[in-house]
Amino acid sequence: MYEWNEIALNLAKDIEREVMPLFGTKKAGEFVGFSPSGDKTKLVDKIAEDVVLEYLKPLGVNIVSEEIGNIDVGSEYAVVVDPIDGSFNFIQGIPIFGFSFAVFKNKKPVYAMLYEFITKNVYEGIPGEGAYLNGEKIWVRPLNEKSISISFYTRGRGAKLVEKVRRTRTLGAIAVELAYLARGSLDGVIDIRNYVRPTDIAAGYVIAREAGAVITDDKGENVKFRLDATEKLNIIAVNDRKLLELILETI
Ligand code: IPD
Ligand code: CA
Repeated sequence: MYEWNEIALNLAKDIEREVMPLFGTKKAGEFVGFSPSGDKTKLVDKIAEDVVLEYLKPLGVNIVSEEIGNIDVGSEYAVVVDPIDGSFNFIQGIPIFGFSFAVFKNKKPVYAMLYEFITKNVYEGIPGEGAYLNGEKIWVRPLNEKSISISFYTRGRGAKLVEKVRRTRTLGAIAVELAYLARGSLDGVIDIRNYVRPTDIAAGYVIAREAGAVITDDKGENVKFRLDATEKLNIIAVNDRKLLELILETI
């Protein structure tokens, strides 16, 4: 039996040790190649992913990771990771970024963790059991229609949505933002640029869903994603169906 919470936390700490000395430095942003989805891989991404591969390869599980893509060894388990979600923030010294780790058994989620390096907060999602922040159960907050706060990624589409809510935040690390939705700090996280990849959202999806979030694509259908590092997705994750309706009629 794999102890996924231990594995994820040990891995997070190993990554932390290797990358944090580079936080906010030019060196962290050195270009080292392209990821399978066509994004530029920076030095910090490469260092973090090397730690992930060194740790996970001996476990004999399939690995899906942002910079390297899929490593299929025929296991029933697939670990979908983004070693650093929020690389731009990391490089620029903006303290919002995390390690995103999600485990699937025969394609069904069984465990997810999001680790925030600066606050050291550990968010977990356990399908059928719930979502946790540092071991305490968390829930999305009830919607207050007069005071809606969302994270909204758009390239102009649905821009009128910003007039219908009180606060808009775009924090640059969607896995972290989904965890903030799960803990009740945001009412919604929306990315309708056809841009996020399964590696960005796998853990945040499980955590937010277990905390009671409703998560759909840009048509209001259940989000479906392959365990893969290249697929491009739209995602709407909210605490209440009323907010989902407002978003769908606006975009
Ligand atoms: C990025 C972040 C960001 C989102 C981008 C992602 P990365 O992840 O999650 O919030 O806008 O779509 O690529 O590249 O820093 O792992
Ligand atoms: Ca990343």
